[in-house]
Amino acid sequence: MTETKKSEWNSNLAFMMAMIGSAVGLGNIWRFPNVLYSNGGGSFMIPYIVSLFLLGISFVLVEYAVGFRFKKSLARILYSVNNKLEPVAWFILLVVFLITTYYVCVVGWDLIYIFLSFTKAWGANPDLYFTNNVLHVANSWDGVFSIVPNVFVSVFIIWFLAWLIIKRDLNDGIGKVSKILLPLLCIIVVVIVAFSLTLPGASVGYTQIFTPDWSALTNLNVWLAAFGQIVFSLSLGMAIAMTYASYLPEGSKLVDNAVIVAFSNSGFEVFNSIGIFSILGFMTVSSGIAFNELVTSGSGLAFVVFPQVFNTMGPAANIIGPLFFICILFAGITSVIALLEGVCYSISEKFLIERKKTATAVCIVGFFISSIFATGAGSIILGVFDAYLAYLNNFSLLLAVLMECIIFGWVYKFDDLIETLNENSTIKVGKTWKVVIKYILPICIGGLWIQGVFSTITTADSFSSAIMTILTVVLIVVPIIFAKLPAINKDYYNV
Ligand code: PFF
Repeated sequence: MTETKKSEWNSNLAFMMAMIGSAVGLGNIWRFPNVLYSNGGGSFMIPYIVSLFLLGISFVLVEYAVGFRFKKSLARILYSVNNKLEPVAWFILLVVFLITTYYVCVVGWDLIYIFLSFTKAWGANPDLYFTNNVLHVANSWDGVFSIVPNVFVSVFIIWFLAWLIIKRDLNDGIGKVSKILLPLLCIIVVVIVAFSLTLPGASVGYTQIFTPDWSALTNLNVWLAAFGQIVFSLSLGMAIAMTYASYLPEGSKLVDNAVIVAFSNSGFEVFNSIGIFSILGFMTVSSGIAFNELVTSGSGLAFVVFPQVFNTMGPAANIIGPLFFICILFAGITSVIALLEGVCYSISEKFLIERKKTATAVCIVGFFISSIFATGAGSIILGVFDAYLAYLNNFSLLLAVLMECIIFGWVYKFDDLIETLNENSTIKVGKTWKVVIKYILPICIGGLWIQGVFSTITTADSFSSAIMTILTVVLIVVPIIFAKLPAINKDYYNV
């Protein structure tokens, strides 16, 4: 059997919306404000902008050039570059898939909070409510055997929605949904930011973004944090840009597109932070809680601090609360479908399974894995997965970026990528880009990776070490099996 018909974007707008939707996610909403605050406030914008150009745009360009030139899935691209590299592709895809399994769960928590927010059902103590009433965190590991029904159902709903979208044809599914959700997301964020600026005490919060701590610039960790944020926020190394670019028709403008996507993503997170900081400023003034205690990251910010804020906000919270959680939902869903697309593409191309069937199989397996996070011990296991795979920028995600830099910078003929970009762009790239990808990025990402591995190893307790060991074995064995399985698609081996 040979290939099936290839998908292609029906408009540049659909591609761009899907790309921005893939990038704008939980990382922009609840990771960036904390990273910004903990790394010097206003002065952080300097390493951040440097990272945006040096790492963000440069690396997206690699993914665009590769995807557009090969017009194949990641697994087949790496096989074409060198057949020994195919396991690397399956490793990257497995990392992406595992990240998706818990990312879906967090979006599921958010779905629960949309409903809770209408009545502020979390009561006077949102912290306890989150742990006891939403997550039902168990005190012992027996919790692994008890399903938490509300989380289980919401995880199912998110997987079901993701399945409904990705099983459809590219333009009808991802393209259309991104074109609807992204503008809605922007409108909601504009409403939240505009409202937050009217709150008493808002300036106490947003001035933090503009107050620089110049001494932070001499701290290497601040630069590494900026790099880490760009990797996470632009979804680098996850085969998303590569997959989406492989669906572009001839005549597309690659560099121009990458610049727009990167700026939109960063613009979104900076703009959104103005709202988050203003709301936290209001909380500081109205409750007396120190600002630095409020600027947490991740689920603590969304499901504990924000509910506390909504408690003190009065009737406006009945509108702003649901809007805030809907905003996370939309941002989360457009990222989930992007994460899944690259995984499905490689599977369906190698094993010649049609899009709908691949989507169904991937979502069913994903749902079963996600169910582990919907148990009494789920949130703790989720934390370990997150630390190991992505959020803290430890280990896996950075390894993926590093490997792609080395493969496309050193193993593949890099000048071919320069040619591809320059033939398909108004803005041209040249030698500087080559130096960045071949030398500067591997050094910076390598440094960040070593730092991440070191902090993971030194902070892991025996339980998380056990989970990480299992993950390591899975991440070695499964990719090898997938690479060894013979392709049903005979064209797969045509390099
Ligand atoms: N860029 C998206 C976000 O910031 O949430 C999507 C994403 C990035 C998901 C990295 C998961 C991840 F590890």
